[in-house]
Amino acid sequence: MDNNLILSFETSCDETSVAVIKNGSEILSNIVATQIKSHQRFGGVVPEVASRHHIEQITGCVEDALARASVTYDDLDAVAVTYGPGLVGALLIGVTAAKTIAWAHGLPLVPVNHIAGHIYGARLVKPIEFPAMALVVSGGHTELVYMPEEGKFEIIGETRDDAAGEAYDKIGRVLSINYPAGKEVDELAHQGKDTFNFPRAMDDDSNFDFSFSGLKSAFINTVHHADQIHESLSREDLAASFQQAVVDVLADKTKRALREFPVNQLILAGGVAANRGLRERLTDELTAFKDTELVLVPLSLCGDNAAMIGSAGEMLYRQGVRADATLNADPSLEF
Ligand code: KG4
Ligand code: ZN
Repeated sequence: MDNNLILSFETSCDETSVAVIKNGSEILSNIVATQIKSHQRFGGVVPEVASRHHIEQITGCVEDALARASVTYDDLDAVAVTYGPGLVGALLIGVTAAKTIAWAHGLPLVPVNHIAGHIYGARLVKPIEFPAMALVVSGGHTELVYMPEEGKFEIIGETRDDAAGEAYDKIGRVLSINYPAGKEVDELAHQGKDTFNFPRAMDDDSNFDFSFSGLKSAFINTVHHADQIHESLSREDLAASFQQAVVDVLADKTKRALREFPVNQLILAGGVAANRGLRERLTDELTAFKDTELVLVPLSLCGDNAAMIGSAGEMLYRQGVRADATLNADPSLEF
């Protein structure tokens, strides 16, 4: 199975993406058609709008992915696709496209979990060394995933309410920042100071779970109260205080997890893994964990993309994981 070529699909949210991946680690092409502009005026992703865009984009993305990789369907070894978790109507477009191509060209079909995909984005930088831990932080997920060996994923901690990215997007709205707000809040945070001392929920609990809805409410209440008494607050300090609270909890829980589950690598993945504050903090903290290497998914692969799905898909393909034409989208798929 050397030199295997995987055509992969990702349509779980608001990016239509198709990639060609060689041996699970080399990106021959990675086409990402983003729909962000269509969702911005609604302040978040509108599922029906996302599905319609996926339908319009997917065929062109497949053609571009094959052309840019200079391969044809005959060169491919398998087709991999995200089948959950995500928006059901959005997932269905990728699943249907992948099933159709697999059936038409007699190729094996490999079903991929979106979170496994985010984690395997790391493999596009360097081989994953097990046991490994992943902190996956995105608009829909905040999870600590322990991987004792290849193909095994154990969620040891997760958010009890909002995902970290969701909290960024919601407080961004209060600061009049367009969706998705994470990047701009991150930039503002670097110009301010942590002066508001927002709550760090569950930070002292001995589990690995997170909670961000109290922080979000504290932020929103602070701004509304100031509006009522016509006080003006520093946007930079608000952003810095919010970011510090998020990063503190993520870093503290991750350190606790690393103490209980010693690993060779800590992988930081998901859209919020692009956060400068979080990358810097984990880089600092990991100096105390001499046997654990920090693997930061590159900024260009933190957001949703099909390259990461092809990388996880290749691992599953080697492990013999297959789906048939009955494969369905599973919006609340777990490991
Ligand atoms: O993984 P992703 O592309 O989509 C999901 O699967 O959710 O993550 C998107 C999320 C959004 O909430 C966005 O605001 C956030 O990632 N994000 C950031 C940064 N860049 C993107 N959050 C904080 N800091 C950033 N630099
Ligand atoms: Zn994602």
